[in-house]
Amino acid sequence: MQRGKFITFEGCDGCGKSTQLRLLSDYLEKSGVPHIFTREPGGGKISESIREILLNGKNSEMTDECEALLYAAARAQHLRDRVEPALSEGKLVICDRYVDSSLAYQAYARGLGVEFVSKINAFALEKYLPDVTVFIDLSPEDAFRRKNGADENDRLEQAGTAFHQKVYGGYKELAEKYPERIKRVDGKKTPQGIFEEVLKILKENGCI
Ligand code: TYD
Repeated sequence: MQRGKFITFEGCDGCGKSTQLRLLSDYLEKSGVPHIFTREPGGGKISESIREILLNGKNSEMTDECEALLYAAARAQHLRDRVEPALSEGKLVICDRYVDSSLAYQAYARGLGVEFVSKINAFALEKYLPDVTVFIDLSPEDAFRRKNGADENDRLEQAGTAFHQKVYGGYKELAEKYPERIKRVDGKKTPQGIFEEVLKILKENGCI
């Protein structure tokens, strides 16, 4: 059986990923494409427990190193629990965030550096790089405006505008560095306009 394709969605908090994933889910259900949706951090029993530690607003004393390692640990478990089994069954795997989130948030924004974050992720990921990554390009200002402010219980969203600017800068650098894999979509378009772009990208790359 032919292996499934691995697609990831990336972007700043509030960029409109969830809406696109919902639209894609409806589309794939209607077209009968075998697929799974999953997310990071999380996507399985153990990785969801790690997610709870990572996103808990009470854990504000967590070090940047611990944070980066926990994201990578959750990823290693999630890959084996959910991603690999679905790919080997020939299913399309759509994952809300993946290693580019660690590069944008931990390497660029927390300042841990691309070398360190790439190294721990190379260990967690082995060969699993996405076939296609959709980057919804929306600045943090536009994203927060759309979301009506941060959720005060969310540790990462408390990090402030400067942090999110760095995340955004990181994503733009990654998109320039890996144009073959990372496909940029203009997040200022309407949800339907963005979705048309998403479908085009997935078709062009033989995913649907
Ligand atoms: P979530 O509520 O799922 O946010 P969103 O809907 O924007 O995806 O929370 C995930 C948060 O975790 C988000 O702020 C990005 C962050 N994150 C990292 O910092 N590094 C990572 O490797 C991953 C996967 C996520």
